[in-house]
Amino acid sequence: MTKTILRALAGERLPTPPVWMMRQAGRYLPEYRATRAQAGDFLSLCYNPELAAEVTLQPIRRYGFDAAILFADILLLPQALGVDLWFETGEGPRMSTVTTAAELAALRPDSAIHDTLAPVYETVRILSRALPAETTLIGFAGAPWTVATYMVAGRGTPDQGPAHALKTADRATFTGLIDRLTTATVEYLSAQVQAGAEVVKLFDSWAGSLQGDDFVEFAVEPARKITAELKSRHPGLPVIAFPRGAGERFAGLHKAIGADCIALDDGVTPEWAAAHVQSGGCVQGNLASHHMVTGGADLVRETRRVVEAFAGGPHIFNLGHGITPDADPENVQLMIDTLRGRV
Ligand code: CP3
Repeated sequence: MTKTILRALAGERLPTPPVWMMRQAGRYLPEYRATRAQAGDFLSLCYNPELAAEVTLQPIRRYGFDAAILFADILLLPQALGVDLWFETGEGPRMSTVTTAAELAALRPDSAIHDTLAPVYETVRILSRALPAETTLIGFAGAPWTVATYMVAGRGTPDQGPAHALKTADRATFTGLIDRLTTATVEYLSAQVQAGAEVVKLFDSWAGSLQGDDFVEFAVEPARKITAELKSRHPGLPVIAFPRGAGERFAGLHKAIGADCIALDDGVTPEWAAAHVQSGGCVQGNLASHHMVTGGADLVRETRRVVEAFAGGPHIFNLGHGITPDADPENVQLMIDTLRGRV
């Protein structure tokens, strides 16, 4: 096994950490903006296998990242389950809502999601042929809680208020939605693996707003079930879990979820995470994304700090969250040159 990402995920400490970036195919790259314009809009790009593969490959060609992440979106799964999805320019996603037992029951069965998602699997197949031999292909899905926050509200929300409200007002419908998303996510990720994804990552972007027992019930448990079922279907499949905003609750999560890697946001320091999380296995992260906008000596210093903090164990270098559209592509190169000792 020579791919550096797979070695780190298997628990190996590498002299130079392998690196990729969340949202590495995105609007900060002029070549992404050109291909997106060619596709027409964001969702058309997601469902066009040739162009989705092209934007996935763009940051690999430009920077030589150690992993490529499938270009798609976490909201394609609810769309495949039957909700209406569109993107308002400059604002973000909009969806028809699921807030009642009847609307939950009206979702399509898990077995029907592949009709809608077939182009995504085709993108994975194209990528597994086109990627350089040393580059790992990561598939992904949203975690049930995060996807549910969009389905209940019909859009992104600052505090996930509508999902928290439904959880209190109609617990049965809410847990039913989480359970549906848990089983559908297994089917979706399993199909990505069959098409050629070598690793899968679960994005729980809003896990941090779950308090107390809710964090265990709606962030940890669904991730544990998805991970266990995927590993039983695909023995040896590495799983990365990203419960963003978990804070001190990152400690112990490798074991609680059964994940090979816990991805860290920049709400925890790398020194704290090295002491309290990395003992459980590989960690991914966690340079603050704003350094890709601001660059300079701060970027170099903080990149070195993250590398040094995690040097005692398995580590995949990444940002704490996605790179933003206002980032300077030169700063990404500076980060990579710093990591690889060229600065
Ligand atoms: O990381 C990658 O490069 C892989 C592709 C990927 C996208 N979205 C492409 C995308 C991944 C892994 C995601 C995950 C995703 N999508 C999450 C979880 C991760 C996170 O960032 O917290 C969430 C919450 C979504 C839902 C979503 N998609 C929102 C809220 C938005 C609008 C916000 C924005 O950045 O404009 C999107 C759109 C989106 N997904 C873009 C990209 C590249 C920008 C679309 C464009 O080109 O205009």
